[in-house]
Amino acid sequence: MRSYKAKMVEPIELPSREEREAAIEEAGYNVFNLDARDVYIDLLTDSGTGTMSADQWAAMIRGDEAYAGSRSFNNLADAVRDVMGFEYVVPTHQGRGAENVLYGVLLEEGDVIPNNSHFDTTRAHIVNQGAEPVDCPSPASRDPNSNESFKGNFDIDAGYALVEEVGADSIPVVVLTITNNSVAGQPVSMANIRATAEFARDIDAMFVIDACRFAENAHFIKEHEAGYEDTSVAEIAREQFEQADAITMSGKKDALVNIGGFAAMRDETVFEHAKQRAILFEGFPTYGGLSGRDIEAMAVGLREAVTPPYVHERVEQVGELGDMLSERDVPVYLPTGGHAVYLDAGEIFSHVPKEHFPGQVLVCALYREGGVRGVELGEFAFPGADRPDLVRLALPRRTYSREHLEHIAETAEAVMESTHEYDGLEIVEEPPMKELRHFSAKLEPVSE
Ligand code: F0G
Repeated sequence: MRSYKAKMVEPIELPSREEREAAIEEAGYNVFNLDARDVYIDLLTDSGTGTMSADQWAAMIRGDEAYAGSRSFNNLADAVRDVMGFEYVVPTHQGRGAENVLYGVLLEEGDVIPNNSHFDTTRAHIVNQGAEPVDCPSPASRDPNSNESFKGNFDIDAGYALVEEVGADSIPVVVLTITNNSVAGQPVSMANIRATAEFARDIDAMFVIDACRFAENAHFIKEHEAGYEDTSVAEIAREQFEQADAITMSGKKDALVNIGGFAAMRDETVFEHAKQRAILFEGFPTYGGLSGRDIEAMAVGLREAVTPPYVHERVEQVGELGDMLSERDVPVYLPTGGHAVYLDAGEIFSHVPKEHFPGQVLVCALYREGGVRGVELGEFAFPGADRPDLVRLALPRRTYSREHLEHIAETAEAVMESTHEYDGLEIVEEPPMKELRHFSAKLEPVSE
């Protein structure tokens, strides 16, 4: 069931097979180099690509564009207080802006920062402060076929092992990312949120939540954690944050907007310092690099994210795509996460060695077979990281219909039937920073 209908539409077109083949070759076998108009179904990311509601568009008209003290900022601060329970908020242009502001205040050179799994930009901002990010994913996350419910959890034992190794004094902050984007969008249980908070308190560290997909995470807790069946998503969302000292948020995910983000916190001193840093990098702390109308839309979206039936339908649609793929014997990471389905390219292209990027071969094959754009999260994006070669198909919120999902599943099936037509790829041109190579490198099919 869908509890909304389309009010505005954007035409999309499937280019011919010849056009797709020419486009992917021209793009250097890197889908980041494609023109979006050459993409039929765009699953590159769920970030800022969703559809806003009529209420959000109406709120945009009311945006107050005052440089300082805008009414729109007050509306955002009220929404953050009501939905998330934080007293202080610093708006930023998007999630990474919030990371820059908050971690610039909290971290010092030589610090070590554990997280269930750092997202790329979080990792980069921690490194940028001279600190070292350490992933502590749950051991359960390593098995793509087990149907356990909370594979996104923080491994508390790994956290204490890190304390043994580097000393509690080196760890001023413990981070928890809900849901865990780097681990196939898997959720974190309320029990694990509490345990991670307890761990942080025990070592006298601040507890920060990367809250991008907090509503999706709350939905999974309601569905799968004992004792939460009758609790509303809104109540669960707040309970998740009760334990946290601060959060970073990308509004482009669960605040249902195309741009925007914020950091929020309880401590007034941290707030004061964060505001100073925001002035330097983002803008005056009541607009944070956003227009008043963007802030209005984010305030409304934050409330919509926890109002039924939105998030239920959202996560259900992602699960539906996962089921359609499984039914066609396409190997997917199980269970399906909150915002995306992750395909196991290592298994699909088992004849392609890791150094020839089976994940990127799959991404190109999906485009070639059906104009579908996903993203590689294996050896190409994370060189030498010893990760499985997964490909993420992220669904924009409130955007595609069942027919689109069917096209995606049929495209994946067509790829499965033609794997023998595809060889590995090799990089022929890459930027100086290896960590960012997947955004712009050019590749070619390996020569015999
Ligand atoms: N944290 C997580 C867990 C994220 O997934 C992202 C963005 C960010 C922080 C940064 O937020 O993009 O607003 O600056 N993830 C997007 C993605 C880009 O495709 O997964 P941002």
